[in-house]
Amino acid sequence: MSSDPSSTIESVLQESRIFTPAKEVADKARIRSLAEYQEMVDAAMSDPDRFWGDAARKELHWFEPFQSVLDWTNPPFAKWFEGGKTNLSFNCLDRHLENGRADKEALIWEGEPGDVKRFTYRQLHEQVCLAANALKSLGIRKGDMVALYMPMVPEAAIAMLACARIGAPHSVVFGGFSAEALRDRLIDGEAKAVITADGGFRKDKTVPLKNAVDKALENDACPTVTSVLVVRRIKEPVAMKTGRDHWWHELISEQSKDCPAEVMNSEDRLFVLYTSGSTGKPKGVVHTTAGYNLWAHLTFKWIFDIREEDIYWCTADVGWITGHSYIVYGPLSNGATTVMYEGAPRASNPGAFWELIQKHKISIFYTAPTAIRAFMKMGRTVPDQHDMSSLRLLGTVGEPINPEAWMWYRDVIGGGSCPVVDTWWQTETGGVMISPLPGATPTKPGSATLPLPGIEADVVDTKGRSVDPDEGGYLVIRRPWPGMMRTIHGNPKRFRESYWEYLRPSSKEHIYFAGDGARRDKEGYFWVMGRVDDVINVSGHRLGTMEIESALVSHPAVSEAAVVGRKDELKGEGIVAFVTLEIGRAQTDDLVHELISHVGTEIGAIARPDEIRISEALPKTRSGKIMRRILRALASGDEVSGDTSTLEDRSVLDKLRS
Ligand code: WTA
Repeated sequence: MSSDPSSTIESVLQESRIFTPAKEVADKARIRSLAEYQEMVDAAMSDPDRFWGDAARKELHWFEPFQSVLDWTNPPFAKWFEGGKTNLSFNCLDRHLENGRADKEALIWEGEPGDVKRFTYRQLHEQVCLAANALKSLGIRKGDMVALYMPMVPEAAIAMLACARIGAPHSVVFGGFSAEALRDRLIDGEAKAVITADGGFRKDKTVPLKNAVDKALENDACPTVTSVLVVRRIKEPVAMKTGRDHWWHELISEQSKDCPAEVMNSEDRLFVLYTSGSTGKPKGVVHTTAGYNLWAHLTFKWIFDIREEDIYWCTADVGWITGHSYIVYGPLSNGATTVMYEGAPRASNPGAFWELIQKHKISIFYTAPTAIRAFMKMGRTVPDQHDMSSLRLLGTVGEPINPEAWMWYRDVIGGGSCPVVDTWWQTETGGVMISPLPGATPTKPGSATLPLPGIEADVVDTKGRSVDPDEGGYLVIRRPWPGMMRTIHGNPKRFRESYWEYLRPSSKEHIYFAGDGARRDKEGYFWVMGRVDDVINVSGHRLGTMEIESALVSHPAVSEAAVVGRKDELKGEGIVAFVTLEIGRAQTDDLVHELISHVGTEIGAIARPDEIRISEALPKTRSGKIMRRILRALASGDEVSGDTSTLEDRSVLDKLRS
């Protein structure tokens, strides 16, 4: 563990504002008071099997009922709803055709150049069946991994649902990752097929996605990949390799509309999603069918308190877990109308979000603190020019939100009347874990408030003992929950070590360690402080410092590299790299630029360092460990405090300072 969470807390807000849910909001809500919330918490704690079992029977469709709720006999490997047979695509589509939602809009898609597409549940079902049959025609079968490397087009959601329909686990790779990063994920996941597009629109440019796929597959680097399915989006010419590459629209046009959902076991793999950890390469987080479906469904229903007439919009990308759980699966499983936006706000169109809210009469809006801070900086003139009276609920996710941004969001975007739900969770947790419920939980700006029913969250010391109120510690979850990750693809040992053995409880307890520091106040409210491991959070994107270091060291000029985060007003954290060069390499501005762009090529633009500092040596202990604490202080321009007596060569510090 690289930093002590208690040290990050000093400056934290003695926040005392409290916003109690308005009576009009509470009256209409599913969960209307803290007392009702508490009843659910108590029910889940006293008889979890009954609580989760009842929820699973009530909220999901089962081809065959499950025999047991939780099997925790071999921790940390959980099995939920064993014996049950279900299908996520059926739960998101087919069951709504029978319950009166066939002609309700399921998906409203807004393209970057302004084109719009709408799909009712019936139409979405049909598209998913066609795509599922197209995958089958390529020889994809239950259990085969299918990678998606796509822009934010409807086909991305359709492809995910098509994979789920035939039982082929998907692995969505964010379209902003480079060909190299894609290749690593294709190899690790042993993908059989890749679904991509000729390209995507990003801000005012296009990105050549198909070219990146070609590069990733060059020289037979990923021998398991036998087919590539290409959606036509930007309509620029791309090379198509005969026998391997197929146009989505052509292949779809040859398919039947009939594709019954595969009957899946509860614990069959649903998807793998790669995320960054503190050591080594990104890890493939594995989620399975029934537990994930239930958690995405329930959390979406509780937190957004969804109603039939809602138009819901989450601004994430499907390449991240937020896109999986809260653009696609959570909303559709609930029969809601979900909006998907291909673009991102950009300098040339700063009002893009507000325009969309006005145009589609969005009632629930879910975005990231980094976006809110960027808008806040631009002032309220632009949002004030839009009619956003359709909004009734606002959410944030991805990183801690500072109280000023929270207040601005509530006042300027929500007109002072929309509850704000700050939702804490992770790729690993499948769905939200700590969040207010809009009709029940009084909110405090900057706090994710209270754990959801059934989630036993705590703040502990290194031995897993609860710390006192207002003391900093490690954020943990003490019991299994349905949406928890099941393992790391191909590496159960790493799963056990990173999440379940990091803290050393004195008893035989299995405590899930999230990697975040937090404090809990006297009312039990959680204040998440950010990562305490070597993961940095840049604009809500999670990156491992090790990955960036490996990318730097793969450049011939670099001998050693150490990467740290630095507080950034807009992005949350910025990336600073300390680098030593190979003998004979000169330190020039050109080289610095080259190194920055090299990281872009190796990982993707989101990982490009904000600053590279070249120095003669890095501060190390006598045993050769880089002292990151010192580098973090130097990167932020802070005094280097604490013990430096273990430094092998103290002159390094003076050189770095100068
Ligand atoms: C951070 C994104 C504070 C946290 C859903 C976590 C947050 C990491 C919040 C997971 C929040 C997410 N308040 N921090 N509301 N939400 N985080 O896997 O550090 O991309 O561990 O999942 O984001 O990032 P991931």
